[in-house]
Amino acid sequence: MSYIFQFDRLHKVIEDTERSVLFTNVCGCMDEPMIITVLGASGQGKSTLLRVLARLDSFDEGDMMLGNKSYKDWSVREWRMKVGYVSQFPVMLPGSVEDNLKTVSSLHRIPFDHALAKKLMESLRLDHLDWNKKAADLSGGEKQRLSLIRSMLIRSEILLLDEITASLDQHSKHAVEQVLEEWSRREGVGMIWVTHDLQQARHHSKRVWFMAEGTLLEDRDTQAFFDKPDTNAGMQYLQGLKAEGEHHV
Ligand SMILES: Nc1ncnc2c1ncn2[C@@H]1O[C@H](COP(=O)(O)OP(=O)(O)OP(=O)(O)O)[C@@H](O)[C@H]1O
Ligand SMILES: [Mg+2]
Repeated sequence: MSYIFQFDRLHKVIEDTERSVLFTNVCGCMDEPMIITVLGASGQGKSTLLRVLARLDSFDEGDMMLGNKSYKDWSVREWRMKVGYVSQFPVMLPGSVEDNLKTVSSLHRIPFDHALAKKLMESLRLDHLDWNKKAADLSGGEKQRLSLIRSMLIRSEILLLDEITASLDQHSKHAVEQVLEEWSRREGVGMIWVTHDLQQARHHSKRVWFMAEGTLLEDRDTQAFFDKPDTNAGMQYLQGLKAEGEHHV
C-alpha cells in the first residue's frame, strides 16, 4: 500500500523531571488526502508531534515518509514546502498584512497568487482588513487566520494545524472549517488538525488520532471513535469533556 504521508515508531525524549519520554511508538499514515483530527488531553504531546512532523523539532527514533521517500532523503526546505504548519500561537513576520502574505511566497521562491490571497481573505472574513495595516497590530483571531492563509499560499500537500480556531468567534470558526474542508477536497490537501473542539472533530474529520498514555493510542474512523472508543482512556476522555459541558459532543 502506498501512502501520501506516513510516520513510524516515532519516539521523543524530553528533559523533564517527571518523565523522560514524551511519546513512543507513534505510528500514523494517510493513504489519500483527508482531514484527520488529533485529540487528547493537555500535555500528551500533540503540538510536539506536529512540530516533529513539520521538522521544526527533533525526534529520537523512528521514520517519517512523504510519498515513498524518508525524511532523510528530503532537504528540510523541500519538506517544509510540502508539509505546512500553522502554530497555535501565530507569529507575524515584520511589516504589513501584505508583507506577511507576500513574504512566504518569496521565501519559498514561488509567485505570489494575489487573486487567491484576496479570495481567502474574503472567505475567512478578513476582507475588512487594510493590507497596509501593521501585522503586529492585528487581533489574536486575525493573526490566526492570516497565518493560515500564509500557509495555504505555499500550496503544501499536507497541512499541520494546531488549534487554529481556538481564539475565534463562532462565525469565523465556521468560516475556517468550511474553507479547510473545501481546500482539502478541491486541492487534494491532507490535514492533520489538533483540536480540543469535539464538535469540530466530529463534523470535519474522517479519522481521529487519539493520543494518551504516551502514544497514539487510537487511530479510528471518526464516527466509530465517537460511538465507542476502543480504550478506557478514550472513553474517559470523551466522558470527561462531556461532563465539562463546554464542548457539545
Ligand atoms: N523540548 C522539551 N523539553 C521539555 N519538555 C518539553 C519539550 N517539548 C515538550 N515538552 C513537554 O511535553 C509536554 C507536551 O507538550 P505539548 O505542547 O506537545 O502538549 P499538547 O498535547 O499539545 O498539550 P495542549 O493540549 O495543552 O496544547 C509538556 O509538558 C511540555 O512541557
Ligand atoms: Mg498543544
